[in-house]
Amino acid sequence: MAVWMIKVLFVCLGNICRSPMAEAVFRHLVKERGLDGLIAVDSAGTGSWHVGEPPHVGTRRVLTENKIDYSGIRARQVNHRDLEEFDYIIAMDAANLNDLRRLAGSRSKAVLARLLDFVPDREKDDVPDPYYTGNFAEVYRLVRSGCEHLLERIIRDHRLGVEETK
Ligand code: 4NP
Repeated sequence: MAVWMIKVLFVCLGNICRSPMAEAVFRHLVKERGLDGLIAVDSAGTGSWHVGEPPHVGTRRVLTENKIDYSGIRARQVNHRDLEEFDYIIAMDAANLNDLRRLAGSRSKAVLARLLDFVPDREKDDVPDPYYTGNFAEVYRLVRSGCEHLLERIIRDHRLGVEETK
């Protein structure tokens, strides 16, 4: 890892369906733009039930269909240090965001937001939980759009790819 990196953490409830999907999609987009030396990507869950598990079969299937690598991703639980270390902490829904705000208190300097907050003409504010809906294709579409807009925002925030002019 480079000395200085922009650190992005995706958070959902179980860290087996939505946030690992976002981690894999975002990492794919970052690599496509040649920014993988500058942006580090991870995911975590507010709950601990699935710690150590690979992504849910529905997430694995939709990622494979879209030729997105998810190797090495294992569930973990979000912790206090994450709130201090990551620059962008991106929740999948309002409940995740509330849990993160409670965990963060006043210490975190991270941008704390929901993934779909970055989508201008969004049809939904929350990424629905496919653990209950079973609709992984819909979640992929929402996650992909959210990740594309989030990456544009980070590129703007940090003027990545913009040559300095004297
Ligand atoms: P996720 O979905 O938050 O998108 O990973 C869930 C996975 C597991 C559970 C809930 C949601 N669960 O209750 O075990």
